[in-house]
Amino acid sequence: MRDFKNDDGHMIFGGMRAADIADKFGTPVYVTDENILRENYRRIYGVFSKHMPTRVHYACKANSSLAVLKILEQEGSHIDAVSIGEVLTCMKAGFPASRILYTGTCVSTPELKAVADLGVMINIDSVSELERLAKINPNIPISIRVTPGIGSGHSDKVVTGAKGSKFGIPIDLAMGTFRRAMELGLKVKGIHAHIGSGGKGIGPLIDAVAVLIDLTNQIRDELEIELEFINMGGGIGVPYRPNEPEEDLEELAATVTDMILNDTSVGILALEPGRYVVCDSTVLLTRCVDVKKSGVKNYVCVDAGFNTLIRPAFYDSYHHVAIANKFNKAGTGKYDVVGPICESGDFLAKDRALPAPEDGDIVAVYNCGAYSFAMSSTYNSRPRCREVLVKDGKAELIRGSETMDDLWRHQTIPERLLK
Ligand SMILES: Cc1ncc(COP(=O)(O)O)c(C=O)c1O
Repeated sequence: MRDFKNDDGHMIFGGMRAADIADKFGTPVYVTDENILRENYRRIYGVFSKHMPTRVHYACKANSSLAVLKILEQEGSHIDAVSIGEVLTCMKAGFPASRILYTGTCVSTPELKAVADLGVMINIDSVSELERLAKINPNIPISIRVTPGIGSGHSDKVVTGAKGSKFGIPIDLAMGTFRRAMELGLKVKGIHAHIGSGGKGIGPLIDAVAVLIDLTNQIRDELEIELEFINMGGGIGVPYRPNEPEEDLEELAATVTDMILNDTSVGILALEPGRYVVCDSTVLLTRCVDVKKSGVKNYVCVDAGFNTLIRPAFYDSYHHVAIANKFNKAGTGKYDVVGPICESGDFLAKDRALPAPEDGDIVAVYNCGAYSFAMSSTYNSRPRCREVLVKDGKAELIRGSETMDDLWRHQTIPERLLK
């Protein structure tokens, strides 16, 4: 977990006092540091590409804000998109179709056609999708997603590679599917597995690559298909807690590239990090609006709930919190940080030592770049919040707060009810 500087009791983020950003733009607000984003992308690309040609497909489900995408487009990233909406959003940010790979799940024929019509490569998730694409356009390049029988993730809800998963082609059907793709005249370029998100340790990722390598060689020997790339998916975990070690990226890159270079004739490694690229680039700033004691617990009531950040409530995820304007003060008591959503499951953090909070304080929630704004909602009729980009002491609004009109825009009351 990244540490931030303290300036006279104030947390510094992107060269600015976090509390000043909150005062200027209002709360709740997601604030992204452009320098961290670029640094993360360059680190992961550099670690793998020094061993072999590498394509980093940023998994934009983690954070699909246009400004974030534009920065990664400038860095030369490729994209992993899981919906036609993500494909179109990335294209709006300037990504050409040639840098996007579409990996859908439960893909409808209209969506498949829409993606194919844009000329985007499709990572096939089921045999039916393969058959349908062959009828729509057999000239679209494809890769095939297999379920390696290895899963890993920070929660059961995000494990995707285990046997029986809804994602991908089961391993025992993989050869038959590649054969069928050949019969249908499809242009198969690669093989893919994504085993889950944010799991601990690099072992399962390496084991999954070993499965892909075995299949790649079987495909070459039995079907005479020379694949261009092996795509190991995303899933690299990041530390959310203070003093938690980082995953050994150097070891992961050295091991998988060595396996691919020594055991196959494949020329490109693709990977799809989402969390790794964006997670620690962003903090959520939320204002303390009340402090309550229940006799059992102390509550810091803030203006962001699970409508703004759902990960703690949904996955029981840990996000580090600090009071940005009391950054040099030690904790004096234990508090739950809770929000304005009318459910007892609405919390951002539990049992945290914090300096005595007061109304108006700014609570900074760390590691909110991935699966945070992207998973926010308007539950309880609370419009989605704003986003700000900071760089070297300058802050710019990259998304304004939604308004009540945005919430009502597509609704109508039938005439007859108005009489
Ligand atoms: C197909 C695919 N690739 C990549 C990712 C990114 O995972 P992470 O953000 O853990 O790197 C996901 C996320 O679940 C995914 O579904």
